[in-house]
Amino acid sequence: MRINRYLAECGLGSRRKCEQIVLDGRVKKNGRPIRELATEIDPERDVVAVDGQTVSTAARRVYLMLNKPKGYVCTTSDEKGRKTVLELLRGKYDRYRLFPVGRLDYDTEGLLLITNDGETANRITHPRNEVPKTYIAKIEGAVEESDLDKIRRGVILDGVKTKHCRVKLLEFRDNISRLEVVITEGRNRQVRRMFESINREVIFLKRTAVGDLKLGGLYRGEYRELSEKEIQYITQV
Ligand code: URA
Repeated sequence: MRINRYLAECGLGSRRKCEQIVLDGRVKKNGRPIRELATEIDPERDVVAVDGQTVSTAARRVYLMLNKPKGYVCTTSDEKGRKTVLELLRGKYDRYRLFPVGRLDYDTEGLLLITNDGETANRITHPRNEVPKTYIAKIEGAVEESDLDKIRRGVILDGVKTKHCRVKLLEFRDNISRLEVVITEGRNRQVRRMFESINREVIFLKRTAVGDLKLGGLYRGEYRELSEKEIQYITQV
C-alpha cells in the first residue's frame, strides 16, 4: 500500500497530513530516507520510521472482508473445538488482534467483516444505525405473500417485535423458494427465526451485503483487505 495510507493506518493522522510528513523528509523505509509519495509499503515486511521512531504496525487498523463458509464459528475461540473464522486467515494477521464484526451462524455463509477497529464494528452492528444487511435465504416449497407480509411487518422474537424489513421472492424453481431478505438488526439467528415464526425452515442462508459493501466474487473461505473507498464508507456509516 502507499506510504501515506500506511502512516495514516498507523495513527499518524489523515492521509493528507501523512503526505506532508513524507514530503518533509521525515520518513525512512528500511533505514533509507524516502520522499516519494508513490513509495509502496509491504506492512508484513518493511520497517518504517518517522523522525527516527519506528511506527507501530500493531496499531494499524485492518479491515478484511471474508466469504465465510459453513462450518465455522464467528468467535475468536470455541469451547467445543470447532473451527473459527480467524483460522481462515492462516496466522497472517495474528499480531493485529482481529475479531469478527457481528456474527454469522455456524451454518450461515457469506460476507463477514473482520477488523481491529472496535468503534467501527460497534457502529455497524448497533441497530440504532440501521445498517442494512442483505441475505439470500432458501426455503423448501412455495411461500405465500401473506406469510412474507407478516415477516415484513415484524414478528415477535423473545417478546420483542422485529423491525420492518424487506423480503422479496427472487425465484421459485425445483420446489425451492429463493428470497432476498434485508434486515437492519442483528438479533440471534434472526432470519432463521423470522421464518420459523411462519413455520418455515431456512435450508440455506448467505449474507451478500453489509450496507453498500458487497461480497462480489470472493470464493468461499477467501478474504481480501477492503479498498480505501470501502474503508472510508464503513468508518463513516
Ligand atoms: N440471521 C440468521 O438467522 N443467521 C445468521 O447467521 C444471520 C442472520
